[in-house]
Amino acid sequence: MSLSRRAVIGSALALAACERPRPSAAAVSLAPLKALAPFPVGTAVQSAQLQDAALAGLIAENVSQLTPEWEMKMEYIVQDDGGFRFDAPDRIAAFAREHRLRLFGHTLVWYAQSPKAFAELDERRVAFPDAYRNYILAVVGRYRGQAVGWDVVNEAVAEDGEGWRDSLWSRKLGPFEHMRLAYHHAREADPDAALFLNDYNLEYLPKKRATFLKLAERLLAAGAPLSGLGTQTHVAADLEPGALKAAIADLASLGLPIHVSEMDVSLARAKGFRSRADLVADQGRVYAEAARAFMDLPAAQRFAFTFWGLRDAESWLKREKAWDAPLLFDDMGRAKPAAAAWADALR
Ligand code: G3I
Repeated sequence: MSLSRRAVIGSALALAACERPRPSAAAVSLAPLKALAPFPVGTAVQSAQLQDAALAGLIAENVSQLTPEWEMKMEYIVQDDGGFRFDAPDRIAAFAREHRLRLFGHTLVWYAQSPKAFAELDERRVAFPDAYRNYILAVVGRYRGQAVGWDVVNEAVAEDGEGWRDSLWSRKLGPFEHMRLAYHHAREADPDAALFLNDYNLEYLPKKRATFLKLAERLLAAGAPLSGLGTQTHVAADLEPGALKAAIADLASLGLPIHVSEMDVSLARAKGFRSRADLVADQGRVYAEAARAFMDLPAAQRFAFTFWGLRDAESWLKREKAWDAPLLFDDMGRAKPAAAAWADALR
């Protein structure tokens, strides 16, 4: 083989080697998450993400449940003229059907969203209570027989635990009544879906968690068809050891199914100056504690364990700090040590 030919082939091989994405130092080899867990594993998803074949494949391989990240909320569905659009959530529902994944509806009533069509409702034409019921019947009814559950009310409790948040819904229909009605309307639309109360910071704020549990008890006492509790679990890598275990055990004390509904573990939100290596190790510890705490629940109370995304690249937290890496898979979809830590803790 002449030098020039050998040189050409050698340089081509060298080029190919550097074009191949180098396995990140952190990549680990792991069986699909849903094969490792004795409970449904979920992820948040946006319809546009399903056009990315690599991501769609990672989702189908690793999870058995999908939560629309934002396209099943009022901000997407309710148009300014009061009409509804379902094209995007329908695409997510279709993907779920195609890949035999459960669909979890998120979210019907949220203080953070009060679309113009509701805020400016001309009560001379349609009474607010009718519009509220009609919305819930339309959305829940559309996915009846497919959605296994819904976050009916999201983030109702005040951060300081002193009561419930104020919202368009509480002002128009009553602080407690708007929540009670939401569960009844959802049940009217779907006799089978599990109806959840969902909130966040329940591991950081015991007082908020206590108020959350009191609200759940009050809804049950009022006959609301509440059938599960969601703890979002958006936490940071420096979360105090034991906080997740305590929160999940406390939330399970009512005997209702528990959904870890939105877990991610931010590196960037951790306080103090820690090396990335230390943050990554802490992140694994936090994911492991959540997995172990969830496994400690009776099987009947393990509704699902949902990550708020699979690949770091899609995380909402990267809008806050682009360097954050809160999820179990890196930007290329390779499993990280956090994924191994979570999986090992299930054993
Ligand atoms: O994709 C559109 C883009 O086409 C458009 O140009 C742009 C401007 O309107 O909007 C983009 O959609 C945004 C969407 O995220 C996708 O990035 C929406 O505006 C934005 O409101 C939406 O934010 C979502 C947020 O909830 C509000 O719905 C986040 O993705 C989502 O991660 C976040 O999730 C919440 C849970 O529902 C409740 N718990 C906390 C969690 C994190 O905040």
